[in-house]
Amino acid sequence: MGNEESTPVDESVPPQTLSSRTLEGLAEYIKSGKASKIVVMTGAGISTSAGIPDFRSPETGLYANLARLNLPYAEAVFDISFFKQNPEPFYTLAHELYPGKYRPTITHSFIRLLHDKGLLLKLFTQNIDCLEREAGVPDDKIVEAHGSFARQSCIECKHPYPEDDIKRHIAAMEIPRCHECEGLVKPEIVFFGEQLPQAFFENRMLPAQSDLCIVMGTSLTVQPFASLPGAARGHTPRLLINKERVGGLGNGTDDVLLLGDCDDGVKKLAKACGWLEELEKLWAETAGIGKDQAEGVPDEPAKSKDEVLEDEIDRLTKEVDESLNLSKWHEEKVRGELMPRSANGADAAATSEGLHSRSQPHEDEKGNLGHVFVSEDSKEVPLKSADPAPTEKKDEA
Ligand code: OAD
Repeated sequence: MGNEESTPVDESVPPQTLSSRTLEGLAEYIKSGKASKIVVMTGAGISTSAGIPDFRSPETGLYANLARLNLPYAEAVFDISFFKQNPEPFYTLAHELYPGKYRPTITHSFIRLLHDKGLLLKLFTQNIDCLEREAGVPDDKIVEAHGSFARQSCIECKHPYPEDDIKRHIAAMEIPRCHECEGLVKPEIVFFGEQLPQAFFENRMLPAQSDLCIVMGTSLTVQPFASLPGAARGHTPRLLINKERVGGLGNGTDDVLLLGDCDDGVKKLAKACGWLEELEKLWAETAGIGKDQAEGVPDEPAKSKDEVLEDEIDRLTKEVDESLNLSKWHEEKVRGELMPRSANGADAAATSEGLHSRSQPHEDEKGNLGHVFVSEDSKEVPLKSADPAPTEKKDEA
């Protein structure tokens, strides 16, 4: 009954905790009160229906579109070494992504609903859009694993920078400079090559205490975040709601896959749990947030989700392009520093080599995740991709 999209992977292995590896089996488990400590893990896919592109979707993702520009590689926009040389691309994106413009999706409201029902142990999010907070999930339930726009500081002297000032600069598309030392100011978003916040390491074993993990809207390609679902105990049910299967989810005895759109997925789950009306009511309360982007803006013909995303990407691409043209000289300088041996088309390969520790898994990793939990000092784990950046893959092929 209506569970065509929940796809058990190996039907020969019986589930240990659920009655069946289906949406209905999971809803039964939740309704029976056995899921009272739910850990949710999210990524950019839960915000795409708000109009914010994700990173890695092949045509609509930010990286695919930024890669067409002259960044040495797409992830450079979030690379701390690159930012120190050329902060303009990041600030161009920040201008678009700065919180306040977007309405939370029904998926954000679903997380809020779990909290209201006293079922949410913790939300780990990789998103920097703050839409979980906007949806009413309280601060103490959120681990912003890749930081957020909530605070900003000087990258040189670490002095905090006033919120009003950064808002003004981002609105005017200017680069903010520290009032103390004139250093570059950066929102406390975790860039590649930087450490994750303390809160991530303090809470990263919570999946082991949970009785249900829900993973939504993430490709699980960035470490150490990608290791979180693997920290759940053997027979703890894990639900993946995502357009594609990721991170080995589906291999566990009690994994349920709901492949497709997040918003559709949470609505189906809410319906199966008898919560749909409450969920829709909660989401309706967010209608005033980010008015520009909310549904039903008058005087505009209704656009499909894909059209909204395409518009957004076009605008971002155009603005970053303009920004890059303005700072061409700067980029050339960076290229010269990062790629001393590169005279022509070998740019990406040379970059990959120069920044090996940022984007390539360490050689001593056991599989994808091994390095994360063997580290003596967890604080030494920097943000890095589990996969090579798209341009690197292309060059290797
Ligand atoms: P990705 O873009 O890597 O992955 C998004 C995932 O969501 C993909 O698997 C998509 O198929 C899926 N998806 C997109 N829209 C969806 C929808 N409406 N419903 C269901 N699934 C959907 O984004 P993240 O995994 O969040 O780092 O990326 C992780 C990190 O990489 C980000 O935090 C960012 C980036 O570099 C920083 O900003 C530092």
